[in-house]
Amino acid sequence: MMKRRYAEIAGWGMYVPSRVVPNDTFVTMGLDTSDDWISSRTGIERRHLVAPDEATSDMAVRAAQGAMGVAGMNASDIDLVIVATCTPDHVMPSTASIVQDRLGMLNAGAMDLNAACSGFVYALATGAAQVESGRSKNVLVIGADELSIYLDWKDRSTCVLFGDGAGAVVLRPAAEPGLMGSTMGSDGSGASLLTIEGGGSRVRTNRNGVHPNGHANGSNGAHDAPMNYLRMNGPQIFRWATQIMPRAAEQVMAASGLKPEHISLFIPHQANSRIMEATAKRLGLPKDKVYSNVREYGNTSAASIPIALCEALKTGRVAVGDYLVLSSFGAGLTWAALALRWSVQIPTHVTAWQPIRRQVQTRMAAVRSVLRRGDRAVRTQIDRRLGKGD
Ligand code: ACO
Repeated sequence: MMKRRYAEIAGWGMYVPSRVVPNDTFVTMGLDTSDDWISSRTGIERRHLVAPDEATSDMAVRAAQGAMGVAGMNASDIDLVIVATCTPDHVMPSTASIVQDRLGMLNAGAMDLNAACSGFVYALATGAAQVESGRSKNVLVIGADELSIYLDWKDRSTCVLFGDGAGAVVLRPAAEPGLMGSTMGSDGSGASLLTIEGGGSRVRTNRNGVHPNGHANGSNGAHDAPMNYLRMNGPQIFRWATQIMPRAAEQVMAASGLKPEHISLFIPHQANSRIMEATAKRLGLPKDKVYSNVREYGNTSAASIPIALCEALKTGRVAVGDYLVLSSFGAGLTWAALALRWSVQIPTHVTAWQPIRRQVQTRMAAVRSVLRRGDRAVRTQIDRRLGKGD
């Protein structure tokens, strides 16, 4: 009989931008809000926001480099890159292809996955299925978002909630589980509750390549048109989230044969501390088993769970043999949960040569990319000339 193949997390990494924006900044900006309202209603005290020239792929590459370093893998070891994002660099090509090129992964497929804030758990389940089926060996799964470029800085009910960042893991085959039960769900009837309406094929705000207000660049990015702002019915999302997150978690626990007392750490989507508390209560989990870092980063969308996982690992909250449950919700509406048994030793320190090796590999990948672009340009010229000669 053929032995069953499982998937496990072999490496992890995260990146958040260096610009830290505390709650008070919104008051200084003239918004009718307060640090007290934001922190007591959401648990958020600050968030990290991208620099004007920082794209989603820039954050994704940094997180991926960390994950590959921990896994001890080179670019040639990865055969699939999945980037969970709802804020890609471009409509096309995919952000995953940009990441694949920047990291010099010549043998890897690459695709983006959009399930908004649920994206990382969707991508993790998808990547695990690839590894378990033997269709892929090592899969790089990244959650990266910069929702800040879609925020209306005059809308106090949304702009205070979000931050930017990226988190990544590397999946590899394992003889024992690793990643266990997972669930993914969607209810598109709630699509309008949380949406960025413009910019796609339905609401064509960018049809002429010009933003309707004439700006090429907004205050914090490239999306100043009202239809390109994130809009949300907060209270309805709140109520729904407190039901769907525990339900999804319960499903994967049941599918994995786990009871609340088996769970060492629950990592929910980091949107609002009150949603996390209500979810934990419904699951019968004590506070100390629920990981939260929303205070520092706000809601980083698809990056929230991998960033929380990285910090939980770094701060010693996870040990080999621990059972973890991840649970998320987001625009769509979508939700996803996944149970896992932690199976790899957590390095206590990073050796000095690891960052150096990473830098060298990145430079080599950049040189290879330039050479491939040059080669393509020369071929195009030759084809043109030959075409002229016909
Ligand atoms: N500062 C001060 N007052 C505010 C603010 C603010 N930043 N935001 C809203 N208020 C006001 C409202 O205008 C309202 O005033 P009113 O009573 O005069 O009308 C009052 O506070 C209460 O507003 P509610 O919306 O009922 O406040 P609530 O307690 O529900 O908190 C919040 C709002 C934080 C948005 C909450 O509903 C929430 O967290 N919802 C879930 C949002 C979420 O998680 N979204 C992410 C989904 S993931 C993804 O895919 C991106």
